Amino acid sequence: MRYISFLAQSFKDFRTTGSFLPSQRFLINKLIEPVDMNASCVIELGAGEGCVTRGLEKKLCDKTLILSFEVNSKLMALNKSKRPKTILIEDLAQNLKYHIQKHNISHIDYVISSLPLASLGKNETRKILSIIAKNMTPEGKFIQYQYLLLNRKDLEKNFSNISIQFVPLNIPPAFVYVCKK
Ligand SMILES: C[S@@+](CC[C@H](N)C(=O)[O-])C[C@H]1O[C@@H](n2cnc3c(N)ncnc32)[C@H](O)[C@@H]1O
Repeated sequence: MRYISFLAQSFKDFRTTGSFLPSQRFLINKLIEPVDMNASCVIELGAGEGCVTRGLEKKLCDKTLILSFEVNSKLMALNKSKRPKTILIEDLAQNLKYHIQKHNISHIDYVISSLPLASLGKNETRKILSIIAKNMTPEGKFIQYQYLLLNRKDLEKNFSNISIQFVPLNIPPAFVYVCKK
C-alpha cells in the first residue's frame, strides 16, 4: 500500500518525490549507520512515507529528538510515527531554521536527507546546505543519498570531509554521502 501510494505521488510530481519507490533496507541501513544512538537531535529531510524515520526510531535512544520534514501531505499522512520525541513537520526543508528556533534546538547532531537536490535547483540547495552547516555541531554529520553524483560540488562548498559509498542493493542503486564540516 505504501509503495503504491508513493508511486502515485511520483506520477503526480516526480520532480518533488525524486524517486518512484521508497528506499529499501540496505540503503536505509547505510543512511542510519553513522548516527550515534545517543545523539540529542537528528533532523530528517524529505521523510516520504517514513521508511527512514522508522529505521532511525529503531536505532535511537528515547531521549533523542527527531525533527522529520516532508512537504507532501499525502506522503506525510502515511508516516505513522507515534514516538513522543519524533516531531513530524509538514513543511519545506528550506524552512529548517524557523523550526529549529521554534523548538529551541541549540545544535544539530545529524541530518539525514533524502531531498532530490538535483530537482531543487542550485539556489535552494545552497540555502539548505548552508543552514545545515551553520547549525550542526563540529562532530555532526550530514548524510545524503543521490542516484547520481550531481551535487558533490555544492556539498564541498559547505563540508570539508566527504565520503561516498555506493549501495547497489536498492532500486534504484544509490550513492550515500557522509559529510563533516
Ligand atoms: C526520494 S523521496 C525519499 C522519501 C524517503 N525518505 C525514502 O528514502 O524513501 C524524497 C522526499 O522528499 C520530499 N521533498 C522534496 N522536496 C522537499 C522539500 N523542499 N522539503 C521537504 N520535503 C521535500 C518529497 O516529497 C519526497 O517524499
